[in-house]
Amino acid sequence: MTNILVILGSTLIVWIVLTVVVGKKGPEKVAVIGMPNAGHKALIVYDPDPIYNLDEKISKSFAEGLSEKGWVSKVVTVAAAKNFEKEFFDLYVFCANTYNWAPDRAIRNHIKNNDYLQGEHVVAITLGSGSTKRSQRLLEDLIKQKDAILIDSRTFWLMKPNTESKTKRSNSKIAVEKANNFGKEVAERIKK
Ligand SMILES: Cc1cc2nc3c(=O)[nH]c(=O)nc-3n(C[C@H](O)[C@H](O)[C@H](O)COP(=O)(O)O)c2cc1C
Repeated sequence: MTNILVILGSTLIVWIVLTVVVGKKGPEKVAVIGMPNAGHKALIVYDPDPIYNLDEKISKSFAEGLSEKGWVSKVVTVAAAKNFEKEFFDLYVFCANTYNWAPDRAIRNHIKNNDYLQGEHVVAITLGSGSTKRSQRLLEDLIKQKDAILIDSRTFWLMKPNTESKTKRSNSKIAVEKANNFGKEVAERIKK
């Protein structure tokens, strides 16, 4: 009995420590993807995860997809996003990690505390190891509360298969490829 309590207690402590570590807002980072004079502009916001950083990979891959369709994107961390609040963009993308069945706090606070989204086109991307349903819904609700136009919302996973077909390819690479196609799809949709 004591052993079980010790195991449960240690697991809880590790979980709490991890929650605190991943909850910290990451550093300022900005990457520009696409031709500077492109016809359409996107702002893609994520908060870097200290473990695998799938969110940065997914955000950049989405931006590559947009750039193949003639867009330019600024892919920025939440900490850097404040520098772009006055700039005009045709599309805003929020890429959130899931921690304890909710989108990461940095992204949530960023959306809650800003007023630049009213009437704007927004895409939501929710990441996680595989249990993202609630987190995706919360992210969508936050965006809608800002009177933004949520044009699409997708989830990609680190562990749960991102494709139904049997393959030996890395699951995270499939997620990154899918994000690229998602970018192209969104670009086409906005053009119409
Ligand atoms: C403390 C903690 C809680 C997490 N909770 C969830 C969760 O509720 N659902 C889920 O799908 N993934 C969960 N994850 C996995 C992260 O969402 C996943 O590692 C992240 O989205 C991808 O981050 P990466 O940048 O490390 O690849 C959790 C991870 C940690 C560290």
